Amino acid sequence: MLKFRLTKRLAQVLKRVHVEDELWDVCCDHGYLGLAALSLTTVPKVYFVDQVTHLIQALPRHERGQYICAPGEEVKQEVKGTLVIIGVGDYTITTILRSLLNRGLLRARRIILGPHKNPERIENLDLRDYVLSEKITVDEKGRERKLYIFDKVQVV
Ligand SMILES: C[S@@+](CC[C@H](N)C(=O)[O-])C[C@H]1O[C@@H](n2cnc3c(N)ncnc32)[C@H](O)[C@@H]1O
Repeated sequence: MLKFRLTKRLAQVLKRVHVEDELWDVCCDHGYLGLAALSLTTVPKVYFVDQVTHLIQALPRHERGQYICAPGEEVKQEVKGTLVIIGVGDYTITTILRSLLNRGLLRARRIILGPHKNPERIENLDLRDYVLSEKITVDEKGRERKLYIFDKVQVV
């Protein structure tokens, strides 16, 4: 049994993950989101990404887990399914997304962003083929945390 702590904020994120597709938990820290997804949903694969080696080493291994110790800006694979970047500042979120976009690796159908600073900069991000489809405010330990859900525009 995987151990995880599902805060109100993480529960709101998990509810919006496309569980039939892969999940990228970028800046995962203790990996609570990805671990919860592996335990509670049928998500086929979870990519845990963090730049801190000991955090990635400490994560419990799972057959549906992939573990990448690198800055999100240096991910080398196509990112599909749901991409989640939460719990970091707007600058980090933006540099990771720009890096993936500029290298043609951003293929996610949904992107969930949770900036800990300057939320208005994330709300107004221009993400080419994505539109802002939902905004949520969650109270976490007395702090307002914003979550932004961007979905890929369907071309018909
Ligand atoms: C406060 S934790 C957020 C954990 C989790 N995402 C959440 O919201 O509960 C921030 C994590 O982001 C990682 N991090 C910061 N910048 C990063 C980057 N550019 N690439 C990958 N990981 C990064 C840190 O090592 C840390 O583990």
